[in-house]
Amino acid sequence: MKLEEVRKVGQLGGGVMGGGIAQVLAIAGYPVLIRDINDEVIDATRESVFDGKWGIKRAVELGKLKFDDAIAAMAKISFTTKLDELADCDVIIEAIPERLELKQEVFKELDRIVKPGAIFASNTSGFCIADLARDLPASRKERFIGMHFSNPVPTMRMCEVIYTPETSEETIATIRGLAEASGKAVSMVKDAPGTYGFLLNRIFGAARREAVAIVEAGIATKEDIDKAMITGRNWPAGFFGNRGGIGGQW
Ligand SMILES: NC(=O)c1ccc[n+]([C@@H]2O[C@H](COP(=O)([O-])OP(=O)(O)OC[C@H]3O[C@@H](n4cnc5c(N)ncnc54)[C@H](O)[C@@H]3O)[C@@H](O)[C@H]2O)c1
Repeated sequence: MKLEEVRKVGQLGGGVMGGGIAQVLAIAGYPVLIRDINDEVIDATRESVFDGKWGIKRAVELGKLKFDDAIAAMAKISFTTKLDELADCDVIIEAIPERLELKQEVFKELDRIVKPGAIFASNTSGFCIADLARDLPASRKERFIGMHFSNPVPTMRMCEVIYTPETSEETIATIRGLAEASGKAVSMVKDAPGTYGFLLNRIFGAARREAVAIVEAGIATKEDIDKAMITGRNWPAGFFGNRGGIGGQW
C-alpha cells in the first residue's frame, strides 16, 4: 500500500490517543473511521475530538486551524462499534489498552476481516512490534509497523515509526509519509525484542529512574529535581508533577 493509495484510515480504539490520532489525520485530509466498543465511549470520543481541550473547535479558537478546514476535518471523521466496518480500510491504527494478549487477539481478528493489502500500525507505548504481529501471516507481517504518537496528539509533534525485519520498505515509507502528512516529526526506530519503550519512553524511563534514585538517596527533593529540569533544561514539567515552567514561579 503506497501513501497515495491511502483513501481511508481505520482507527481502532477512540480513547485518549485514538481520538487525537483520528483528529490529526482528518485535518491532514484523510477520512477516518473510529471503532470503539460501545456508544457511550464513542460519544465521549466525539465530544473530546470536536469540543475537548485539544479538540478541533479549540484549535479554531486559538487561531491554529481555519474554520473551513475545521468543518472539512469534522466531516471526515466517522464512528462505529462494528469491527467489520473496518474491512475496506487501507491503514488500521490500533490504540486500544496496553495489554499484549488483547492486542494480539484483536490483530488476529482484524487480519480475518480487513483486506489483505492493508497496513496495520500499533500505537503501543512500547511492546515489541514483532510480538504484536506474532500470530499473523507473513504477508501481513510485511505490512505491520509501530506508529507511536505522543500525548496529547494534536499538540505533540513527535511520532516514532518502529520497523521489524519483516516490515516492507513500502510499508515504512507509507507510514512515515502518513505521520509527516499529519504534521509530525518522525524518528525511525528498529524493533528491539526483549525491550520496552522504543526510543522516547526508554530514555525518559531511564532519566526518571535516576531521578527517583536521587530522591531515595536523600541527595535532592522531588521539588528541587523538577525545578532543575524546568529551569536548567527548559522542560515544561518535571518528573514528579511540578509544572513550574508553565506560568509557575520558577
Ligand atoms: N495515554 C498516553 O499518554 C499514551 C501515549 C502514547 C501511547 N499510548 C498507547 O496508546 C494505546 C491507547 O492508550 P490510551 O491512553 O488512548 O487508552 P484509552 O483507555 O484512553 O483508550 C483505549 C480505547 O480502546 C477501546 N477499546 C478497548 N478494546 C477495544 C477493541 N477491541 N476495539 C476497539 N476499541 C477498543 C476502549 O474502549 C478505549 O476507548 C495504549 O497502547 C497506550 O500504551 C498512550
